[in-house]
Amino acid sequence: MARGLLAAAALLGFLQASSSFEVKDPSGKVCIIADLTVAFSVEYKISGKKEFVQFFLPQNASVASQSSCGKGNTSHPVLVLDFGAGHSLSLNFSESADKYQVEEFVFHYNLSDATLFPNSTAGDVKTVSHKSIIQAQMGTKYRCINSKHINMKNVNVTFSNVTLEAYLTNGTLSVNKTECAEDMISTTTIVPTTPKHTTQVPTPAPTPTSSPSNPAVGKYNVTGPNGTCILAYMGLQLNITYPKKDGKMGLDLLNFLPPNTTSSGKCDNSFALLNLTFEKAKVVFHFALNASAEKFFLQGVSVRTTLPPEAKNPSFEASNSSMSELRASVGNSYKCSSEENLQVTDQALLNVFNVQIQIFKIDGDKFGPVEECQLDENNMLIPIIVGAALAGLVLIVLIAYLIGRKRSHAGYQTI
Ligand SMILES: *[C@@H]1O[C@H](CO)[C@@H](O)[C@H](O)[C@H]1NC(C)=O
Ligand SMILES: *[C@@H]1O[C@H](CO)[C@@H](O)[C@H](O)[C@H]1NC(C)=O
Ligand SMILES: *[C@@H]1O[C@H](CO)[C@@H](O)[C@H](O)[C@H]1NC(C)=O
Ligand SMILES: *[C@@H]1O[C@H](CO)[C@@H](O)[C@H](O)[C@H]1NC(C)=O
Ligand SMILES: *[C@@H]1O[C@H](CO)[C@@H](O)[C@H](O)[C@H]1NC(C)=O
Ligand SMILES: *[C@@H]1O[C@H](CO)[C@@H](O)[C@H](O)[C@H]1NC(C)=O
Ligand SMILES: *[C@@H]1O[C@H](CO)[C@@H](O)[C@H](O)[C@H]1NC(C)=O
Ligand SMILES: *[C@@H]1O[C@H](CO)[C@@H](O)[C@H](O)[C@H]1NC(C)=O
Ligand SMILES: *[C@@H]1O[C@H](CO)[C@@H](O)[C@H](O)[C@H]1NC(C)=O
Ligand SMILES: *[C@@H]1O[C@H](CO)[C@@H](O)[C@H](O)[C@H]1NC(C)=O
Ligand SMILES: *[C@@H]1O[C@H](CO)[C@@H](O)[C@H](O)[C@H]1NC(C)=O
Ligand SMILES: *[C@@H]1O[C@H](CO)[C@@H](O)[C@H](O)[C@H]1NC(C)=O
Repeated sequence: MARGLLAAAALLGFLQASSSFEVKDPSGKVCIIADLTVAFSVEYKISGKKEFVQFFLPQNASVASQSSCGKGNTSHPVLVLDFGAGHSLSLNFSESADKYQVEEFVFHYNLSDATLFPNSTAGDVKTVSHKSIIQAQMGTKYRCINSKHINMKNVNVTFSNVTLEAYLTNGTLSVNKTECAEDMISTTTIVPTTPKHTTQVPTPAPTPTSSPSNPAVGKYNVTGPNGTCILAYMGLQLNITYPKKDGKMGLDLLNFLPPNTTSSGKCDNSFALLNLTFEKAKVVFHFALNASAEKFFLQGVSVRTTLPPEAKNPSFEASNSSMSELRASVGNSYKCSSEENLQVTDQALLNVFNVQIQIFKIDGDKFGPVEECQLDENNMLIPIIVGAALAGLVLIVLIAYLIGRKRSHAGYQTI
């Protein structure tokens, strides 16, 4: 299961969210806080042939014991993150005058780890490193939402959504920040060397690109080793809130048009992926199997899209890998006529309409018995209650009538 997830994450390339790490000195004082997403692309050899793998720094990477806050001017602060079977990423910090920097970052990867490097010819631990990637003003946190790509021999590393600070005096991130150049670009383009006193840039807010109608229902299927393993009917709508260059918030509502949506996917014994691409938007559903309960469920969703040009950062990505939605017993189908809002992140909602879905075991390429969603059942409840109330009323009238009849009957008899 966990292996499946890792493989899925590696396969999706972007399921992983950023994670937060802390380094403390022996007295327990925090001196480094780092919250970052790191994507790796590694080239290795399988019997002479080049192979590329992509993976993320996993969220459960551990802060290794070699991490330290440094000792005066004898050693520098360092954050070492261990992950998987013998891989590690180190950030070595240094300070100069009023700045601190990641002077060097070092990545060790273990080619004998068959999970990440299947069939690798070599089995040794390789090391790559790169100098000075990040610099910030002392007493500020470094913030960089945009991606920073670093190409090295056989390894490319991409840092994104980085918030970090070293040489902390207070144990918490500073309020003031040093923004990276990449993030500044989008802001400076709309504030062209205007004096500081213009606080608000008066650009008219463009209306959100909205298609308020409900999306049409698309039919998607994926074939696995044993035949159809994903059968899904649903309408899809993406709802993304994003910051715009003018500092206001924008809303991007996108309905997936079924004829223009391409689907792909794959299945394993315990996980299944459905990959839907419409124009610039891509949604990947990750289904899992709860083997003990014999139920399938939606465990994760990844969303990637391009936002309108007025967005501060037009390339948008969000994912959530700890969901538990669209759940039904294996062999049955999950059905919901009500709109369901799947929360991917605070910024991204995936609205699902008229869904019917079945994963893993699908007999005869047709949906099995239906398990209706709670929302539908609640909606069904209203007519049921009204019906029951009416039936009750009829019953009461009937009983009253019968009693009345009996009484008058009895009355006649006593006379
Ligand atoms: C981290 O997660 C991966 C899969 O997500 C799992 O295989 C691995 O055992 C976990 N490692 C630790 C130390 O929890
Ligand atoms: C998803 O589909 C897109 C476009 O069809 C493709 O480029 C991508 O590799 C697919 N990803 C997965 C995980 O299937
Ligand atoms: C950036 O990281 C923060 C904190 O981990 C997270 O809440 C946010 O969703 C991330 N943003 C993106 C665009 O990934
Ligand atoms: C790194 O990026 C360069 C150019 O962007 C590309 O040519 C190279 O194949 C990449 N290497 C890896 C290991 O992904
Ligand atoms: C740094 O090293 C110098 C000697 O090289 C020493 O005099 C000084 O006290 C050290 N400073 C700190 C803060 O440890
Ligand atoms: C590794 O080798 C096995 C058996 O030779 C093969 O089935 C599999 O596809 C290979 N995997 C990769 C990533 O080349
Ligand atoms: C320390 O952090 C607190 C918030 O946690 C803040 O109110 C305070 O001003 C900080 N002190 C210094 C010296 O930065
Ligand atoms: C943040 O920066 C402003 C302006 O440079 C400064 O006045 C303020 O004291 C700083 N705040 C902290 C907590 O350092
Ligand atoms: C979906 O089902 C149709 C009809 O059974 C079939 O032709 C098509 O190949 C299937 N698509 C996938 C991706 O399995
Ligand atoms: C889109 O998301 C925003 C913010 O979460 C919410 O206020 C709005 O109602 C959503 N709209 C739709 C159609 O889901
Ligand atoms: C959908 O695809 C058709 C045919 O490929 C094309 O004419 C049409 O413009 C597309 N519509 C959208 C909204 O992409
Ligand atoms: C395919 O069917 C075989 C035999 O029923 C089973 O052992 C195997 O786990 C199935 N594979 C998948 C991916 O469902």
